[in-house]
Amino acid sequence: MQEYRYTTPMVDLIKDIARFDPEGQPVVVRGWVRTKRELKNLVFVEVNDGSCFASIQCTFDKTPFDKRETDAAVASDAAIEVLSALKTGASVEIRGNLMPSPAAGQRSEVSGQEIRLIGDAENYPLQKKRHSFEFLREIAHLRPRTNTFGAVTRVRSALAYAVHEFFQKRSFHYIHTPIITANDAEGAGSMFQVTTLDMEKASRDGNQGKAPDFHADFFGKKTFLTVSGQLEAETYATALSRVYTFGPTFRAENSNTARHLAEFWMVEPEAAFADLRDNMELAEDFLKSLLAYALDNCGEDLAFFDAHVEKGIVAALEAVVNAQFTHISYTDAVKELEKNADSFEFKPSWGCDLQSEHERFLTEKVARGPVIVTDYPKEIKAFYMKMNDDGKTVRAMDVLAPRLGEIIGGSQREDNLEKLEKRMAELGMKTESYWWYLDLRRFGSAPHSGFGMGFDRLVQYVTGMANIRDVIPYPRAVGLAEF
Ligand code: 4AD
Ligand code: MG
Repeated sequence: MQEYRYTTPMVDLIKDIARFDPEGQPVVVRGWVRTKRELKNLVFVEVNDGSCFASIQCTFDKTPFDKRETDAAVASDAAIEVLSALKTGASVEIRGNLMPSPAAGQRSEVSGQEIRLIGDAENYPLQKKRHSFEFLREIAHLRPRTNTFGAVTRVRSALAYAVHEFFQKRSFHYIHTPIITANDAEGAGSMFQVTTLDMEKASRDGNQGKAPDFHADFFGKKTFLTVSGQLEAETYATALSRVYTFGPTFRAENSNTARHLAEFWMVEPEAAFADLRDNMELAEDFLKSLLAYALDNCGEDLAFFDAHVEKGIVAALEAVVNAQFTHISYTDAVKELEKNADSFEFKPSWGCDLQSEHERFLTEKVARGPVIVTDYPKEIKAFYMKMNDDGKTVRAMDVLAPRLGEIIGGSQREDNLEKLEKRMAELGMKTESYWWYLDLRRFGSAPHSGFGMGFDRLVQYVTGMANIRDVIPYPRAVGLAEF
């Protein structure tokens, strides 16, 4: 091993240590001080650079030269001075040699000779004790330096990579759907408006009681932040056969829950010549493959979540990878819930939207694992879903996961022009602005299906983090946009 000129991420250094026997090799370590401990003539500095869970312990020996009994590295005078004032949170560069470590759980440590203070830290708010997640949300710019948020961030990154790998290997092409849109893809109406009109001026002038003239707005019409890339993905699926989107998604829902964000990330595959069965199969393969990727590649971080966040999570994820998902129709699911009506605050009945408590009951009590619920009443699902022959239900599917509830929502799409127009009319939707979407049913219409997976909910599921605000760097929710 050569002397590292540039920062070697600790993850690589630790891999090298495991692979070779580099004892005695000179190393440079750069990172942030987690702790400093002093013991007579020894100073222990734990340094972490976030590239992996583990920190590296650097031990400095301050024994005066004439009192030394070994020829191990000695801390320089300059190093001793830096060490005496060193604070948690400071950034440092340490030079020394790798030495076998007497401490449990680490093979090597650094026997330090030099330490350079790169950036000092005063009154660092992160101390050795465990801070609450609520407190850490208030210092969202520093929380990635904690064990938990470092681990969440690495798992999130690995899962994003796995999403692309899964689809790329199966001939799905990645497309970038617009973030600003004129359409309400879900027909649900909880959208953030995008405008360059001077709202302050309009409200100062009272606008003479008139609605603003959106023809004068930037795009010449009312526009919004997208709630889903699905409609645009459908146009590409009916051209490239298999596509997926993976991008930011916005919903102005006033739901202050542990699984809703106003800005979240959604993965949406869309496949032509695919029906609801194919869609269910794809969703199950997808979810299992993501969990397997995390289990294979994020072992150290998952072990931390297992020990400190959600006991037994690794075994639970392994079980899901090896299980078959339970399939149940909405109608049968409601029957199942009605049999246990006493257990619920919200009494279930045919036609009702499944509440979080119902979803948990189905996964945790009925199926004891993930469940795919299909064929929901048309009234509680979006306009674009394919109608079943009964005229009452649509070819929808929701994948529900234990602990979390809905993680994926999707459907086969209505590919019959007349039926789609009829449904939109029933719902009072203006078809003019969807002309291009309807065109897909005019020119070579084909059965097609897709789904959306809340990426942040996936990260919650894999890490066991209870609140969705703790799996995204800067959560956006009602009243929350500090950073
Ligand atoms: O079920 P949803 O609303 O489905 C759609 O948007 C479809 N257009 C998807 C498709 O078929 N292409 O949302 C899909 C998923 C949900 O299952 C959930 O995991 C996540 O997106 N999701 C949210 N995640 C965080 N915060 C929110 N406010 C979310 N709303 C939905
Ligand atoms: Mg849904």
